[in-house]
Amino acid sequence: MSDALGGSAAVDCRRVKCVALTFDDGPGPYTGPLLRRLAAHRARATFFVVGRNAAANPGLLRRAVAAGHEIGSHTWSHRDLTTLPAAEVRAELARTDRAVKAATGLVPKLVRPPYGALNTAVRLQTSRPMVLWSADTLDWKYRDSARVARRAINGARPGGILLFHDIHPTTVQAIPAVLKTLSARGYRFVTVSRLFGGRTPRLAYSATVPGTAKT
Ligand code: NI
Repeated sequence: MSDALGGSAAVDCRRVKCVALTFDDGPGPYTGPLLRRLAAHRARATFFVVGRNAAANPGLLRRAVAAGHEIGSHTWSHRDLTTLPAAEVRAELARTDRAVKAATGLVPKLVRPPYGALNTAVRLQTSRPMVLWSADTLDWKYRDSARVARRAINGARPGGILLFHDIHPTTVQAIPAVLKTLSARGYRFVTVSRLFGGRTPRLAYSATVPGTAKT
């Protein structure tokens, strides 16, 4: 059974160890294989999609939502929002919202700014939480499944958010080992919204400090 938050209704992250796997920059050619691997372990994840990729692959978004995953916004064209005028920041978000809504019927509730680049001016352009991460696998740099898996496993903490990119085949190949090892350690894999108990966080998840930081 699943609920609208994309987490098993039975999972209570106050009582069990939860971790959120997040995948940025897709959807793309490796997203379908990733969805199959997640399904094999009954894992839920959050996809921070680039709007123009979402517009090009609406079927993948629908499949992800149908499987209980969450879709967040990673902006339309992956620019550093801190370099853009306010109107362009809003346009990057609005255009992505329209693409995700056209594909799934849902508007993303969470935003992950490209490069984690965030300042007060950017934050003022949306009331939605800007979600960063607690552990970065650096999968874009290593392109080595074993290394990516090791970094993810070592970086996992209860309540943590792990950063991956589903545009790299090496990342998708790393996922079964991550799921198997962390499952054996008692972790459940939930969406970011489920991690926060279904209450939308009014905060950015810090890239540097474990735990949530009010900003
Ligand atoms: Ni990105």
